[in-house]
Amino acid sequence: MTAYTNLNVVPFVSVENMMRLVLTIGTETFLTELAKVIEEDFRRWEAFDKTPRVASHSDEGVIELMPTSDGTLYGFKYVNGHPKNMREGRQTVTAFGVLSDVGNGYPMLLSEMTILTALRTAAMSAVAAKHLARPSSKTMAIIGNGAQSEFQALAFKAILGVTDLRLYDIDPSASERCAKNLAGKGFSIRTCTSSQDAVEGADIITTVTADKQYATILSDNMVGPGVHINAVGGDCPGKTELHKDILLRSDIFVEYPPQTRIEGEIQQLDADHPVKELWEVIAGKRAGRESDRTITLFDSVGFAIEDFSALRYVRSKLKETGLYDDLDLLADPDEPRDLYGMLLRCEARLQSA
Ligand SMILES: NC(=O)c1ccc[n+]([C@@H]2O[C@H](COP(=O)([O-])OP(=O)(O)OC[C@H]3O[C@@H](n4cnc5c(N)ncnc54)[C@H](O)[C@@H]3O)[C@@H](O)[C@H]2O)c1
Repeated sequence: MTAYTNLNVVPFVSVENMMRLVLTIGTETFLTELAKVIEEDFRRWEAFDKTPRVASHSDEGVIELMPTSDGTLYGFKYVNGHPKNMREGRQTVTAFGVLSDVGNGYPMLLSEMTILTALRTAAMSAVAAKHLARPSSKTMAIIGNGAQSEFQALAFKAILGVTDLRLYDIDPSASERCAKNLAGKGFSIRTCTSSQDAVEGADIITTVTADKQYATILSDNMVGPGVHINAVGGDCPGKTELHKDILLRSDIFVEYPPQTRIEGEIQQLDADHPVKELWEVIAGKRAGRESDRTITLFDSVGFAIEDFSALRYVRSKLKETGLYDDLDLLADPDEPRDLYGMLLRCEARLQSA
């Protein structure tokens, strides 16, 4: 019996099946379709339960739970952020998530979300830039060339047509790996020796570094008029990437202000510093970029609705691809109240075997 005929069997998307799913659909098509689902959900923003994510901080990193619901489906993601992991041969960010039926509370999907988070973060960044960057933008600097970086590049190519990349990382081998992985994918790529070199002439600047401190990846003199900044790596209290003076010159767009004020670049600003909610731009309720000279900043931290959209998108692809396993996750006694009886019957079965 499969997950689609038996509610007690939950479809599980492993890392292997997620990779096969992405490759079957095509990475850029996946990013483009996922971006559409994110936009769909951002347009109905008011229908969702929203709360800042629940974070458990330690000296080394953070573990977070990110729940939301649209009244029909409920989703949550478990995600960590441990910048020191990379030096120990582990991922900085790993994640998994669940989508459930609000009507009966039963999970309908359990999925790996480490790869899916990289895809959804990239799709979200590109959606924001589609609404905020100058439409002629073709050149992007990516500062921080770790696990997220290629996904960011591919989303900006698929959704905005960005083809010129300048890569910079404090570890040159990271930029070399990123350039090698993106070779033959339709980019013109230059690896750079400093952030200053990378941002020179860039229409869009993506900062996606990992460091558990107030870092200054971009200083004020590095950002000229008209640039769009996609600030992805500053996503925790005490973990930022931009000099405060850049924020004071920028038109700032955020996902969910109560969470971004705690975690985003804007933690450096007064609690009432004006920011704009991205969903309002996507829903056509407010303008995005005001002029060609405005510096727009997407202060990305990652919000639960993006993960909900990603899980919803993945679930919609399972039946046609079959790229999941049936997971025996939910107890299912013949009579719902006879949970203990089910244990006794298992005992009898094991004894007679
Ligand atoms: N906003 C979101 O939705 C979201 C989602 C996922 C990850 N993130 C954040 O994005 C960041 C990157 O994640 P990742 O998985 O790619 O991490 P990673 O550890 O794989 O890569 C980070 C890279 O940044 C480089 N780096 C560190 N300090 C630098 C500096 N000062 N200048 C240039 N490069 C520097 C490192 O050498 C490394 O190559 C993390 O901070 C993570 O928390 C945010």
